[in-house]
Amino acid sequence: MRILVTGKNGQVGRSIQKLVNTDTKLDNNQSSNDFIFVGREELDLSSESNISHYFNNNKFDIIINCAAYTQVDKAEQEAELANQINHLAVKQLASIANEQKARLIHISTDYVFDGESDKPFTETDIPNPINIYGRTKLAGEKALLKLMPTNSIIIRASWLYSEYGNNFVKVMLKLGKKQDKLSVVSDQIGSPTYATDLSNVILEIIKHKNFRDVGQTTQIYHYSNEGKISWYEFTNEIFRIEKIECEVNPITSQQYPTPAKRPRNTLINMDKIVKVFNIKISNWKSSLNTCMTILKKQQ
Ligand SMILES: NC(=O)c1ccc[n+]([C@@H]2O[C@H](COP(=O)([O-])OP(=O)(O)OC[C@H]3O[C@@H](n4cnc5c(N)ncnc54)[C@H](OP(=O)(O)O)[C@@H]3O)[C@@H](O)[C@H]2O)c1
Repeated sequence: MRILVTGKNGQVGRSIQKLVNTDTKLDNNQSSNDFIFVGREELDLSSESNISHYFNNNKFDIIINCAAYTQVDKAEQEAELANQINHLAVKQLASIANEQKARLIHISTDYVFDGESDKPFTETDIPNPINIYGRTKLAGEKALLKLMPTNSIIIRASWLYSEYGNNFVKVMLKLGKKQDKLSVVSDQIGSPTYATDLSNVILEIIKHKNFRDVGQTTQIYHYSNEGKISWYEFTNEIFRIEKIECEVNPITSQQYPTPAKRPRNTLINMDKIVKVFNIKISNWKSSLNTCMTILKKQQ
């Protein structure tokens, strides 16, 4: 079994790597040697010829695409690059996976939705992205579904954080320790996703019969931690755990303009993934605690 994981330096890529190297998540037929982790140095998704060249020399049974253009605001200025990585490269990966008879797991986002619903979005709700990042991610999903009607899955996650990289939790910890007061948006609602939880789910899925059986129709699944919060509530909990005495004031999205518009409510419904893959979903507070305990040990 040869399993390729792209985005080895990203939050999900690094979390999968850590789990695979501890071996606890692998079944008897798997070994950490089955996994090949690549970053842009080995496989640059901004270059069509680089992608072709890489796969001419490398064949896989499963491709897990954790690489993406994820800078939501910068994407407004770099639409072409974001489209290449989030859409055209995904299209090319799907076509290559087909040729190689490989399974493809692709990660997408809650930002494919416009956020204009008061109910959690299900996989059958119609996407309607309101920023360039969301549009490029949706274009990637559509291309994948067209080229790979079978043998692939798309997992849409939301508000990813981890002990790696520069995510919301780490930024808030830094700001909270420096400042007495902080204003945080309270009218964008969703649920955070701890990258290790998502990575565990991916490793569960690749062992599961419902993924392994050849010819299964490609499906979209939603996954995040359990809960419904705003960025303001998220910040309060981060500060409570770390005992940071920084005053947090709720503000509206209008009071905090950003280059890319953010959807208002991107809570996602996870019934489908729970049912099909028998997944247990942790509450956002317990996963945040786990991540922050690891961060503390790293200090
Ligand atoms: N972050 C979120 O809040 C969020 C929310 C929902 C869904 N998602 C989705 O979840 C997935 C994983 O997100 P993440 O937070 O783990 O992302 P991340 O930490 O930003 O990592 C993305 C990785 O993609 C790599 N990459 C970017 N351009 C590349 C290129 N041209 N060629 C090869 N690799 C390239 C980056 O490489 P470098 O390290 O070299 O830059 C980075 O390691 C993505 O599909 C994202 O769209 C993210």
